[in-house]
Amino acid sequence: MNDSVLDPAAQRFAATPSAATAARYAVNVWYTLALLGHLIFVAYILAVFYPPIAAHGTAGLEGMHLPSGFREGDFLGNLAATAHVLLAAIVIGGGPLQLLPALRRRFPRFHRTLGRTYLTAACISALGGLYMVWTRGTVGDLVGHLTVSGDAVLILVFSALAVHHAIGRRIPEHRRWAMRLFMVASAVWFFRVGLMGWLMLTGGVGIDFETFTGPFLYVLGFAQYLLPLAVLEWYFRIQRGAGYREQWVFAATLTLLSLYMAVGIFAATAGMWLPRVTA
Ligand code: HEM
Repeated sequence: MNDSVLDPAAQRFAATPSAATAARYAVNVWYTLALLGHLIFVAYILAVFYPPIAAHGTAGLEGMHLPSGFREGDFLGNLAATAHVLLAAIVIGGGPLQLLPALRRRFPRFHRTLGRTYLTAACISALGGLYMVWTRGTVGDLVGHLTVSGDAVLILVFSALAVHHAIGRRIPEHRRWAMRLFMVASAVWFFRVGLMGWLMLTGGVGIDFETFTGPFLYVLGFAQYLLPLAVLEWYFRIQRGAGYREQWVFAATLTLLSLYMAVGIFAATAGMWLPRVTA
C-alpha cells in the first residue's frame, strides 16, 4: 500500500502538502514494514515446511508443531494441510508484491500471472483451512474457529468480487477488491504479529495459554481482518480527498499502528520465525 498503490488517486491526496506528505509517508512506512514482515514469514514457511514435504510428502508434517497437520490414514485431511502450508508461501510472498505499482506498470504480464496464482492459492488455502478447522479442530475454542472461518469466507467472497470486476474491465473496482483481498489473505500474518507484539508489551494479558483462549484472543480473532479492512477503507476515503485535519489524524493513527506492527514483527521473528538453535 505505498503511495502509488494508491495511484492514480494518490495525486488527489489533497491540497495541503504537509498533511498529504505526512499521510504518504505513513503509508510508505506501513508498506515497507509489512513487506519486510511478510518476507520473514515466507522465509520461515519455505525453510520449515518445504524440505520435509519434499522428502516425505504429506507425512513430512508428522511430528511438527501443527496439531492438525498429519493424521495416519486421513488422506484428504493430510492433503488439505500440506496444500495449505505449501500455498501459504505464495499467499504471503505474492500479496505485498501485487501491491507494488512499479512492478505492475513495468511487468504487467507478471502482475497478471502472479495475481491469478495468488488468488487461486488464497482460495485453496482458505478451503484447506476450513476443512482442517471443522474436521480436525485446532488450538483455541469455538470463538477462534468461527473468527478464522470468517476470514476464509471473506477470502472467497473478495476473490470472487476481484475476478468479477477484472472480467468486466472495471479496473478501479478490481483494484479496490484486490487490496481488500490482500488484507484478509494476510489476516493470519496480522494475527501472529498482533499476538506476539501483545505478548512482548504486556506479557500476555487476557490470554489463557493452556487453552489458547481469552478476551484478547477473541478481540484479535476479529481484529486480524476487521482492523486492516477498516484502515484500508479510511485510506480509500483519504485518497478520494479529505480535509487536512483528517489526513493528519490518518497519518498519526497509521504511524501508531505501524509502531505496534514493528514491535510485533520483531517479537514474531524472534519468538516464532527464526530457526531454533538446539543443543
Ligand atoms: C489464506 C491465508 C492463510 C495463510 C497464508 C495461512 C498460513 C498458515 C501457515 C503458515 C500455517 C502453519 C502454522 C505456522 O507454522 O505458523 C497454517 C496452519 C493452519 N492454518 Fe492457516 N493460513 C491461512 C488461512 C487460514 C484459514 C482461513 C484457516 C481456517 C479457516 C486456517 C487454518 C489453519 C489451521 C487449522 C492450521 C493448522 C494449525 C494446527 O495444526 O493447529 N488458515 N496456516
